[in-house]
Amino acid sequence: MTRSFPVAGDGPRVLVVHGPNLGALGRRDPAHYGTIDVEGLQSDHEGAIVEALLGARAAGVAAVVMNPGALAHTSYAVRDAVEAAGIPVVEVHLSNVHARERFRRHLAIAPVAAGVVAGLGPASYELGLRAAAGLVGRR
Ligand code: DQA
Repeated sequence: MTRSFPVAGDGPRVLVVHGPNLGALGRRDPAHYGTIDVEGLQSDHEGAIVEALLGARAAGVAAVVMNPGALAHTSYAVRDAVEAAGIPVVEVHLSNVHARERFRRHLAIAPVAAGVVAGLGPASYELGLRAAAGLVGRR
């Protein structure tokens, strides 16, 4: 399911994207992820995330904060969409992906992201949003 929560304002727009299984936050493995309440777009579908990234700029979005979930480790389609987005994309992870299973240490999207914040729980999103605001000239 794709859920979106548009927020109207007159400042630069930042889109927060959550990848697969992040719709289950609060129910899923709370030892790793805790609970979080962030508005944005969540989809379990790679193609929906690609479309959101490719359409973001034309939709007036200035920057994206994205937790790609497991797509971070596998998706060259999302990586290409981040590269093509034409706006900064900050990658965030709730957990420290470098301290977990070996497969999580490979980050397919990170090399084309504006930056990566990982391991700080909900603060990863907060810092990602602050970074995005800085990247679009607002602090
Ligand atoms: C995650 C880390 C990923 O490895 C995992 O597949 C997730 C959540 C995180 O926020 O820590 O779905 O992106």
